[in-house]
Amino acid sequence: MIKYTKITAVKELADLTYTMWQMGWDEKNGGNISYILSQEEIKEIYKEQKPQFIELKNIPNNLVGRYLIITASGSNFRLVKDTIETTIGIIKIEQEGYTIIAGFENNNKPTSEIYMHLLAHSARLEIDPAHRVIVHNHATEISEMTFVHELDDKTLTRSLWGMVTECIIVFPDGVGVLPWMVCGNEEIGKATAEKLKDCRIVIWAHHGILASGSSLNDAFGLIETVNKAAKIYMNTFDKRITKGITNQQLLEVCDFFEVTPKSGIIE
Ligand code: 13P
Ligand code: ZN
Repeated sequence: MIKYTKITAVKELADLTYTMWQMGWDEKNGGNISYILSQEEIKEIYKEQKPQFIELKNIPNNLVGRYLIITASGSNFRLVKDTIETTIGIIKIEQEGYTIIAGFENNNKPTSEIYMHLLAHSARLEIDPAHRVIVHNHATEISEMTFVHELDDKTLTRSLWGMVTECIIVFPDGVGVLPWMVCGNEEIGKATAEKLKDCRIVIWAHHGILASGSSLNDAFGLIETVNKAAKIYMNTFDKRITKGITNQQLLEVCDFFEVTPKSGIIE
């Protein structure tokens, strides 16, 4: 058994916080990440600290008994990798709340977006048993795009697919978009989970983005791809002289890569 700070997933998660800060996507306390531990990973952890139970309402049934690595509320992603004991913890999900098993020293608590993380994990696990990770950050260009683009799933997905040929291959299930909402409450968690029933990426207007995935790298890769497309959109939408990628061309890509795009977007 080893201290939780030494397990590979915790180290990878800490590295990712720093990478995202370097991208400029996690100013101050912006962003949060959670990761469902496997049974093997749980067995590895040496439980050195007294468990602390925190009550939380409406816990999804399919999460009860699972263990999550999760970032602390208020954690600075610039600093997380050097302060893991205070800024990353492990919680066990219970019927009536969760128990802090490791980390969150100095009285820290999991992210204020805990509802979103729990409800999002629950929704994705219903669809994909390999699902493990939720990553939220304030990726710049996708946030910018929510000021100059219609805020609906269909048109936003079509615009992003049209920016880079690979987009439709990386996220054929498209993106969901929510209007501006207060963050951190159960309502935004529920709305996000609803969108995640048929896609892996949700954009929060005037706030940021979150992605789900089977690994940290998978979820982060989705955000990188969406944000790259958004960056090209923002740099070109008001000065284009070509038509960009046509519907016919998108269909040719899908055909060649044997990808089924979300229906109703390419018409
Ligand atoms: P936390 O610091 O509570 O994780 O909140 C950051 C954030 O990005 C809220 O949406
Ligand atoms: Zn945020």
